[in-house]
Amino acid sequence: MLKYNLIVAVCDSFGIGIKGDLPWHIKSELKYFSRTTKRVSDPCKRNVAIMGRKTYFGIPESKRPLPDRLNIVLSTTLTPDDLPSDVILCRDLESAMQEIEDGDIRDNIENVWIVGGSGVYAEAMKSPRCHRLYLTQIQGDFECDTFFPEIPQSFREVPPDAETPRGVQEENGIKYEYKILEKQ
Ligand SMILES: NC(=O)c1ccc[n+]([C@@H]2O[C@H](COP(=O)([O-])OP(=O)(O)OC[C@H]3O[C@@H](n4cnc5c(N)ncnc54)[C@H](OP(=O)(O)O)[C@@H]3O)[C@@H](O)[C@H]2O)c1
Repeated sequence: MLKYNLIVAVCDSFGIGIKGDLPWHIKSELKYFSRTTKRVSDPCKRNVAIMGRKTYFGIPESKRPLPDRLNIVLSTTLTPDDLPSDVILCRDLESAMQEIEDGDIRDNIENVWIVGGSGVYAEAMKSPRCHRLYLTQIQGDFECDTFFPEIPQSFREVPPDAETPRGVQEENGIKYEYKILEKQ
């Protein structure tokens, strides 16, 4: 069974978004997101980024689809014509996973990343397909209208991998820390 990881940045209230955008501007955290979701050990392969409709359209137009990753957008209202031809539209998360598993693309895919938003994360954490949650904890409270769902008890923190910076990071006075949780 093909597994996936989740990646998210949350503030103290577990807020993740405001008015379709991120509540904060932390360049180094965006770079970490980009680096982590792009990383492959086989240079002939690439990763998949699965996201909900609002997360996709929340990415600045010039930066979407997310480069060097196969973008899959979940929506029950969009049609393929609403998206660029290299973006795959799926009706739900499981159909997206089956599309990857059963399709011709499987051999060219290394890892699958779930990149939000709220409902997609909630469904993804409950599934046996879920391996890890890459969680950036941003210290402080930011105004948010979208929140990360409750993390099930079965997730335990594991030591950061070699590519994840350790300890408290800081940019423009905002302190944050990278954590990795694994579903037991
Ligand atoms: N801090 C972070 O790391 C982070 C990460 C991601 C997003 N965000 C922020 O979060 C906000 C967007 O998240 P959101 O929760 O509001 O929206 P979202 O999950 O990105 O999009 C919601 C829409 O996606 C579709 N969808 C979601 N789950 C689905 C599923 N399981 N099956 C089929 N379709 C599904 C539905 O589209 P239809 O209505 O078309 O059916 C739904 O209305 C933005 O502010 C964004 O910047 C933050």
